[in-house]
Amino acid sequence: MRGARILGTGRALPQRVVTNADLMKSMDTTEEWIVQRTGVRERRFVDPGTGSSALGTEAAKAAIAASGIAPGKIDFIVFATVSPDWFFPGGGVFVQDKLGLPTIGALDVRTQCTGFLYGLSVAEAYVKGGFFDHVLVIGSEVQSTGLDMSTAGRDVSVIFGDGAGAAVVGPAEPGKGILSSHMHAEGKYAKDLMLEAPASIEHPRLSHEMIDAGRHYPKMNGRYVFTHAVRRLPEVIREALAANGLSMGDLSLVIPHQANLRITQAVAAALQVPAEKVFSNVEKYGNTTAASIPIALDECVEQGKIREGDLVCLAAFGSGFTWASTLLRW
Ligand code: UT7
Repeated sequence: MRGARILGTGRALPQRVVTNADLMKSMDTTEEWIVQRTGVRERRFVDPGTGSSALGTEAAKAAIAASGIAPGKIDFIVFATVSPDWFFPGGGVFVQDKLGLPTIGALDVRTQCTGFLYGLSVAEAYVKGGFFDHVLVIGSEVQSTGLDMSTAGRDVSVIFGDGAGAAVVGPAEPGKGILSSHMHAEGKYAKDLMLEAPASIEHPRLSHEMIDAGRHYPKMNGRYVFTHAVRRLPEVIREALAANGLSMGDLSLVIPHQANLRITQAVAAALQVPAEKVFSNVEKYGNTTAASIPIALDECVEQGKIREGDLVCLAAFGSGFTWASTLLRW
């Protein structure tokens, strides 16, 4: 069977920088609390009228340009988001239209912070199996329009930001590129990080009462999510290494989902690797959910942190709960 590798990456961040001091204008919080508990110093928010499909399209254009293939060679789109422009259709079809691509398929992935890695595994399987040659995988989020910016929502709202990242996956020699993907879910913890409404189990899906009760805002049992993330991330990284007969010493770089600097530091400590081997950019962008790994990957490529032959592990944990890893030989 042929291999599958990432041919090019790209990212798109809104221009508008929102600092912790900006958040202090609408909620009872402090710069000190946010930096100490999360590591986030600023995040980007879109201006009204920009949705996740627009950001995703910008990131996709950059990834296609970096891959060196013509846009017409893209066979399929995988679009990961928790913040589609509309309730339906999903965002992938908007990206297809905005890119001016022909009637190729567009699949939306809804696994929250692990969405990009689940999406990458779809691309990996299609390309390795010979079903498609080039698959565009996008993680894109506009979180800012759905956050409770009052004190009631401060535990959740200070960590999130908007952004998009993308990768083009294409054929590779066997044993090069994406070595393996590992995905897990544990739905019994769905209520510990969720956004309920609009909800199809309610009739109507969204009511004034639901809005008054704040059920259209995300809710998180932060400490509980933190504890699970710190356990599952090292576990799923070790699982990827073991599946390939490799060990921690072989790893050049870990790119974890950017949820909280303390989680990233705890992952480095659990793996017993130096902090510089675990990439972090959460201080600039906050937590961009499905976009955080492809944004980080693109920055690592740009900054020369990944060289040919390097072993890189991508790992994510989030709502569901879901967690996943992807092992890459660059
Ligand atoms: O991307 C998906 C995965 N998500 C994550 O991985 C997030 C994981 N969780 C976390 O990152 C952390 O749990 C948070 C950053 C969300 C919260 O940090 P924490 O250290 O777990 O704080 P906490 O929620 O336990 O709250 C501690 C205190 C509370 O006050 P009391 O009850 O001790 O008086 C909160 O009311 O901090 C208070 N607090 C705040 N204070 C100032 C909560 N949010 C804020 C805030 N500013 N923004």
